Amino acid sequence: MAIEKIIVLDDQPVIRKHLTEIFQRKNLLVAQADGLAKAKELVDKDDFDLICADVRLPDGDGSDMLEYCQLKSTPPLVAIMTAYASVESAVECMKKGAFDYIIKPFSDDQVDVLLKKAADFHQLVKVNQHLNQGSHSDTDQEILGNSPPIQKLNDLIRKVARTQATVLIQGESGTGKELVARSIFRNSTRSRQPFITVNCAAIPENLVESEFFGHEKGSFTGAVSRREGRFELAHNGTILLDEISEISPVVQSKLLRVLQERELERVGGSRTIKVDTRVIATTNRDLEQSVEKKEFRQDLFFRLNVVPIYVPTLRERKSDIALLAETFMQRYAKKHGCPVCGFAKSSLEALGKHSWPGNIRELQNVVERAVILTPEGGYIEPELLGLPHSQVPLGQIHIPLTRKSQASEVSPSAVVEMPIRGDSPMVSSPTASTLDKNDQILPLDELEKQHILSTLQAFEQNRTRTAKHLGISIRTLRNKLNEYQKSAEC
Ligand SMILES: Nc1ncnc2c1ncn2[C@@H]1O[C@H](COP(=O)(O)OP(=O)(O)OP(=O)(O)O)[C@@H](O)[C@H]1O
Ligand SMILES: [Mg+2]
Repeated sequence: MAIEKIIVLDDQPVIRKHLTEIFQRKNLLVAQADGLAKAKELVDKDDFDLICADVRLPDGDGSDMLEYCQLKSTPPLVAIMTAYASVESAVECMKKGAFDYIIKPFSDDQVDVLLKKAADFHQLVKVNQHLNQGSHSDTDQEILGNSPPIQKLNDLIRKVARTQATVLIQGESGTGKELVARSIFRNSTRSRQPFITVNCAAIPENLVESEFFGHEKGSFTGAVSRREGRFELAHNGTILLDEISEISPVVQSKLLRVLQERELERVGGSRTIKVDTRVIATTNRDLEQSVEKKEFRQDLFFRLNVVPIYVPTLRERKSDIALLAETFMQRYAKKHGCPVCGFAKSSLEALGKHSWPGNIRELQNVVERAVILTPEGGYIEPELLGLPHSQVPLGQIHIPLTRKSQASEVSPSAVVEMPIRGDSPMVSSPTASTLDKNDQILPLDELEKQHILSTLQAFEQNRTRTAKHLGISIRTLRNKLNEYQKSAEC
């Protein structure tokens, strides 16, 4: 991500002039400041990427800019120029947050090195900010399965990963398309560079362009500062365009240009920015059909479909179900602190018979819920899977409150004793039903909410004891209760 705007901060006019000329020859925008006051004024007015600051200035110390800039939402990088090649002053500045220092007098080459370092650093900061914003899923898992379709898929991933080719991953929802994309990235030569994802379906229509290509300050209402788009963040790395079928015709044509020319302009900007980004796209719609229906540009489809990868449904790889279920069981038992013994034989049969319209994501959810509902050390029984034909026909499946539930702590009105089928011990506890009033399986969130509220009731609204009993912090409990209250108010 290139450096575009620079402040040269030095009280000596010759140094300012010399450095400004070097930067201008490289087509950079340069502002000059002869002291801290002027530099601060510039920083207040505009977004700069880099400040080259002298250490000793008439009105203070160049490294003071470091502290001052931290107040900005996107602080510029500060490089310290020092004529006093003392290690101490450089170390002091680095401690305060300078990203580099250069010793005066410097050559063109030294400035080039500085700019390259600053560009890399700048990109790292932006990518980091981007990654910290989003919810980043657990999709760095390995691709599990030994079935022939999965072996074929893994072979193809290995082959294509080594190339720079654009890849279009197609498959039903929940089959693991994102996982495949990440696996290609991890096995590619770009694996140490950024991997940036864009969920095309999740971005509001009016913001898509700016998300993809970035915008200049003031280019539309709300564009309070310059922002790099995801293609720029992914420069030298890989971009995942998730659910590509969802982008509008306008963005389709702009995307085509990036794929063809590898260059773009930010919204409201006139400068052409070169990007070297590998593109991986996913879709759970049949893109060829979308092309036939004129919903998707054919030329863009061809650009994306250089290497098509089809991710098989779980129905096509039923022999993997037991392995996947077993792995998820272990993962969730550990995550939730719910040790279970394994699947009852009839449960494995039920898993094998189900058609899995939601594919692996559905299997994951089914196993997670079953692990939570299974009594400690017990086998997962088919009715806890909540699959058609394996449900308990009516009402109440009862959940043990915690592993080490002390019935004596629970008020008698909340205790309902019910035997749990299978090898599990009998457990007494407050209960929550896994089914709603229409006998539909409750989502996990709702089940958790019921469980928390009934436990709170059992402890007569005593939050400290409730939290302790549930094995969560009081803060978590408080947050959850606030959330419930908020959604009740909506
Ligand atoms: N072969 C696999 N081994 C292990 N986990 C898998 C496998 N395939 C998918 N998963 C898991 O299933 C979940 C769904 O996968 P992913 O998000 O990649 O699916 P998707 O095809 O992108 O779905 P969607 O179309 O809904 O976005 C993820 O949590 C992923 O880790
Ligand atoms: Mg996906």
